[in-house]
Amino acid sequence: MLELNGVTKTFGGLTAVDDVSFSVESGELVGLIGPNGAGKTTLFNSITGVLTVDSGTITFFGQDITDAKPNTVSQHGIARTFQIVRTFDESTVLENVTTGAVFGASEDRSIPEGQEVAREYISFVGLDGKAELEASQLTIADRKHVELARALACEPDLLLLDELGSGLTPMEIDGLCKTIERVRDELDVAVFWIEHIMDAIMGTTDRILVLNEGQLIADGTPEEIQRDDDVSRAYLGGVEL
Ligand SMILES: Nc1ncnc2c1ncn2[C@@H]1O[C@H](COP(=O)(O)OP(=O)(O)OP(=O)(O)O)[C@@H](O)[C@H]1O
Ligand SMILES: [Mg+2]
Repeated sequence: MLELNGVTKTFGGLTAVDDVSFSVESGELVGLIGPNGAGKTTLFNSITGVLTVDSGTITFFGQDITDAKPNTVSQHGIARTFQIVRTFDESTVLENVTTGAVFGASEDRSIPEGQEVAREYISFVGLDGKAELEASQLTIADRKHVELARALACEPDLLLLDELGSGLTPMEIDGLCKTIERVRDELDVAVFWIEHIMDAIMGTTDRILVLNEGQLIADGTPEEIQRDDDVSRAYLGGVEL
């Protein structure tokens, strides 16, 4: 579904993403891990058109989206959430999620049609009863769920999650893992998920990619990644996962 070939992104003298190639298939739940500064968010920004890449190609269902703008990428079927939560804080939960349904989806929708779609996803992420609250009134966990609902309301084929679990309590993370599995299983949306919380990522994903200093150093099942010497050396300074 998603295919990257030799993608490189530099900032001045720094190569943040270095000749990265991989693919994600329909229906997969794939994790992306790596130390701080490894290039994970830069990779998401490159895929979603927030940044333009220096070289390499990105295709989605065989179509070249390498230089596509973020709104075009969204309408092609790739939605995302942000590492630093980016809800529209002076808008209600319903208004936040409706923006995804109206402006992020490939289908043309009126605002009332968008609101109907938005209500489905507000319910899907467990925010029933909070639709009319302003995002600013919510906890960080709830605001992260608003972002998730807004991304889902774009009705994507692929969902990119950038540290959706950070700042949540262990109980909230358990709930989030179940929701993410339901995204794959009930909505049939593939998920590509950056997370530092090892238990969550190891216990939930089908496959994990590991970035280190911009380079892809491993691609395997959670079990394979836990046994990979390069990964423990690069990622944890030799400590076993
Ligand atoms: N807009 C930018 N301009 C210059 N340098 C940048 C920019 N964005 C990221 N970088 C640098 O690129 C490298 C990769 O950053 P990135 O945010 O992609 O890492 P990350 O893997 O997401 O890290 P973290 O786990 O801390 O979120 C870092 O050295 C970072 O400082
Ligand atoms: Mg990041």
